[in-house]
Amino acid sequence: MTQLAQPDLWAKAAQQQCATALAHPNIAFIKYWGNTNHQLRLPANPSLSMNMAGLHTVTRVEFDPALPADTLEINGVPATGPGLERVSAVLNLIRAEAGVAAPARVVSRSNFPVGSGIASSAAAFAALAVAGAAAAGLPPVEARLSRLARRGSGSASRSVPSGFCEWQPGDDDGSVAFSIAPPEHWALADLVAVVSREHKAVGSSGGHPLADTSSLQTARVAGAAERLRRCKEALLARDISAMGPVIEEDAVIMHGVMMSSRPPLFYWLPATMALIQATARWRAEGLEVYFTIDAGPNVHLICPAEQAADVEAKARKIAGVRDVLKSAPGGPAHLLAPGDEFLHP
Ligand code: PMV
Repeated sequence: MTQLAQPDLWAKAAQQQCATALAHPNIAFIKYWGNTNHQLRLPANPSLSMNMAGLHTVTRVEFDPALPADTLEINGVPATGPGLERVSAVLNLIRAEAGVAAPARVVSRSNFPVGSGIASSAAAFAALAVAGAAAAGLPPVEARLSRLARRGSGSASRSVPSGFCEWQPGDDDGSVAFSIAPPEHWALADLVAVVSREHKAVGSSGGHPLADTSSLQTARVAGAAERLRRCKEALLARDISAMGPVIEEDAVIMHGVMMSSRPPLFYWLPATMALIQATARWRAEGLEVYFTIDAGPNVHLICPAEQAADVEAKARKIAGVRDVLKSAPGGPAHLLAPGDEFLHP
């Protein structure tokens, strides 16, 4: 299913000035870290990711002229301050494009821990962009939706298209994500070993501006296109033993930049390191599992779906692992039919 495949829902949303959308977070195999333009969230380097089917955010946007200002509720709790301002900034782009003046009521729910290195802002802003655009009567043009999502959170651009997605640097209109393969292309599993559910002290929006303070960032950015090329080639060939080392290298290089920024960002906990070392051990025992880590301490274990149960059982035995969240490759951000949102608690 694509956004374009839902003409009736888009028409109804425009009529009612209200829409509900579902989006998955994504896990980057080649990371986005650092911007050339912070306000527009134009990335310093290209990136590549997989949508995570097991996890999602559902967001409803309702434009209502009777409201004095935008309101936001996240997982049942009213949100104000910077969180609401960031949502309003994306709604302002949508309003300007659609010629809508009314404030909006935004209600959002996720089925995974927010702010702990599972890309909660990616799913949140992809769902907001799609629901907001539909409620405002904008057309379901994937590249336009990806751009709107990017303006809320860079990696959210990659949660708009389906399956495995690439996002290239460019200008405000051109830097959008596109699918390089559908979810059915490859039965990969992402097992997120959750070692902390704490909210991060420094989120990625605060982290991107620090990237340029690391003397390693220039080298990271210079090598990103070549790592992406190798990763994409292996992904398209469904070759995990070629892809795995590239994704591990790319994650470690990003954390090298984070750890050498001023001030430094140390996201890893002892259990993070234990999982990194265990991954190499499990490979020596015959499993095809590789790690990657976003801006947090949780470790994403990537392996073929048929090895997921084994990997999960092993991960649960590592001290400090509180939970393991499972995902297959996920589809695009899309609208839900009225009433359907209750199917996604
Ligand atoms: O979209 P942001 O600003 O939350 O940045 C995400 C950065 C990483 O998750 C660390 C890497 C990535 O490419 O998703």
